[in-house]
Amino acid sequence: MPRTIEEQSVEELGGQASVLARQRRDHAEMDRLMGRYGSLPPGEDREKVLKDLVQLVFSHAFAEETVLWPAVRRSVPDGEELTSRVEEEHQEINDLVADIERLEPGTPEREEKVERAFALIRQDIQDEEGLLLPRLQEAVDTDRLRKLGTAWETMRRTAPTHPHPVIPRRPPGNTVLGVPLSLYDRTRDALGLNVPAHVLKKVLAGVAGFVVCVAALAVVRKRR
Ligand SMILES: [Fe+2]
Ligand SMILES: [Fe+2]
Repeated sequence: MPRTIEEQSVEELGGQASVLARQRRDHAEMDRLMGRYGSLPPGEDREKVLKDLVQLVFSHAFAEETVLWPAVRRSVPDGEELTSRVEEEHQEINDLVADIERLEPGTPEREEKVERAFALIRQDIQDEEGLLLPRLQEAVDTDRLRKLGTAWETMRRTAPTHPHPVIPRRPPGNTVLGVPLSLYDRTRDALGLNVPAHVLKKVLAGVAGFVVCVAALAVVRKRR
């Protein structure tokens, strides 16, 4: 029986750059944020913690689905079954957080969904650290774990940061939709969550139109 990710040293996981060590760091931060949310009274500070958690969870999971799970399916004999299970968990978390973002903070319905989402995030971490990632560790060498770590981290830093009902869980659909959705999410994060989605979509469409016009003008000028 392979050892869980939790009980190994950083060296055993392949060093700080290994995807296993990077995963564990993010999981620990998710756990810390969920604990912090539970310790705070309803209000702005608690909502900020939830926002940070959502951004971390969704960029982390998107990079898993686009980079890491395809590698698991290629390298681990029962990778298909293992990754299907965590993809289902990701989908449930996606649906719950989409509801949470629509509901008024502090209402019992929202708090109940937050609790269910937290329980699923904890289950997801347990399944990955206890089963899926140790199987990947058995199947590939340290050099591969570090390369996967770099690829996963790069994707994570440019990934969407919120739930999207339309986004598929597997490549190539999620990879293709990831770029515009990431731009949309990250603009929304930078401006603050209280900007209504329909307003932001119009702003982004306007910015895109402006960029196209500037590019067209530049081409016309060059030809003259
Ligand atoms: Fe993870
Ligand atoms: Fe996950």
